[in-house]
Amino acid sequence: MSAVQIFANGDDLAADALHFVLQAASEAIAARGRFTIALTGGSSPVKTYELLAQASPGLARWDQWQVFLGDDRFVPPEDPRSNYGQARRLLLGKVPIPPEQIYPMATAAASPEAAAEQYAETLIRVLCPAHGQPPVFDLILLGLGDDGHCASLFPQMPTLDVVDRWVVSSPPGTLPPPVDRVTLTYPVLNAARQVLFLVSGEKKAVPIRDILERGAAREVHPAAGVQPVPGTLTWMLDKSAAALLTRRQE
Ligand code: 6PG
Repeated sequence: MSAVQIFANGDDLAADALHFVLQAASEAIAARGRFTIALTGGSSPVKTYELLAQASPGLARWDQWQVFLGDDRFVPPEDPRSNYGQARRLLLGKVPIPPEQIYPMATAAASPEAAAEQYAETLIRVLCPAHGQPPVFDLILLGLGDDGHCASLFPQMPTLDVVDRWVVSSPPGTLPPPVDRVTLTYPVLNAARQVLFLVSGEKKAVPIRDILERGAAREVHPAAGVQPVPGTLTWMLDKSAAALLTRRQE
């Protein structure tokens, strides 16, 4: 099941994304006693993280959150290019989530490959998937690159074909910053109960049109390969990102 929501501007998008995340948290905590979420990097989630940081603790129930990263650049958290560093500055450092329930990728590991292996072990330990099955997040947040990538799954890369590993390393894509990455794979993205894309800006208009209206191949626009089953997929777009859509979106 998928839905596309279009907002007049980034502020309206972030306000709705805030409600979406809090609702997902509330449902997960009611059903399973905890909320497992993977955060994204990039500029699109910034306002949403700022709003979340101000959410009422009684509503958010931070002590029940288990927080992961969907992908990260292989740089220390203090590096301005670190996705975890950004999430910590904007959100995680401002709310009372128990530190042992926050799981950054091990960017001090010997290599991106070693960090990916360690992260896969962490996912299995914390999320306890059925044997051989991908771990199931309550919610995965994603952004969309100007080239149609998501997480660190870049066009035409062998990482797109991985079906038997939950976390892999990736060489830099064609967009900056040119650093190695560590990323969740499609099997994990598509096993999530909910995936929410946050997409703003005119540079996203072409990949958004190609993915939502022209059946883009995932090799060209990797975000097209995110189709959670039996989970739900929601696209939140600002007007600029949706500018080339011609069909009424359901
Ligand atoms: C990263 C991201 C990446 C991001 C997109 C969109 O590490 O680069 O996680 O997948 O979400 O590049 O980024 P913007 O929101 O900045 O356009």
